[in-house]
Amino acid sequence: VVFESDCREGVCGACGFLVNGVPHGPVDNTPACRQHLRAFPKATRLRLEPWRAAAFPVIRDLVVDRTALDELIRAGGTVDVAAGTAPDADDVAQPRQQAERALDFAACIGCGACVAACPNGAAMLFAGAKLAHLSLMPTGRHERARRARGMARTLDEFFGPCSVYGECVPACPAGIPIEVIARLNREVLRAGWLGRGRDD
Ligand code: SF4
Ligand code: FES
Repeated sequence: VVFESDCREGVCGACGFLVNGVPHGPVDNTPACRQHLRAFPKATRLRLEPWRAAAFPVIRDLVVDRTALDELIRAGGTVDVAAGTAPDADDVAQPRQQAERALDFAACIGCGACVAACPNGAAMLFAGAKLAHLSLMPTGRHERARRARGMARTLDEFFGPCSVYGECVPACPAGIPIEVIARLNREVLRAGWLGRGRDD
């Protein structure tokens, strides 16, 4: 059976498939590589399937093509100024609480379980985690509106709409909260109000 894995410690997002119909497996907020057979004390047979999502075509067995998530990241971009060498960590001041919050959202490992769990095949939890994280960072501020527009366009292109079912939240191994979807909508609205000519 062909499957993907890399870190096997829950930080890379490479693994992921359905175990008895549940993204990653029966233990909430835990990636496939961190699930244990002891979670199935009575099972003699497990049903393993690749992610079920139109945005993720099956390559082989349990391996799917998650390029659509890469397209979302590409649309969001990061910082497009010539920044030179990496600055010292304490050069760019940021309130501690805000930095901690940004780190919570940066925990997304890009596994795609949220898309597979969603009956609409939406990627709002993934995109929301990225937008929430980047909008809190002091760097890349002037791309903020452009980033929101680009990611919203790419969401429409590859993924289904969000009906706030919330199936994505227990499937997420990074524990990304559903509030990121509200943050995403706020970022997109803000970008709309600013208008196409402005990026700040
Ligand atoms: S939001 Fe959670 S489930 Fe979705 S890609 Fe990121 S880590 Fe995976
Ligand atoms: S193999 Fe890296 S998260 Fe599972």
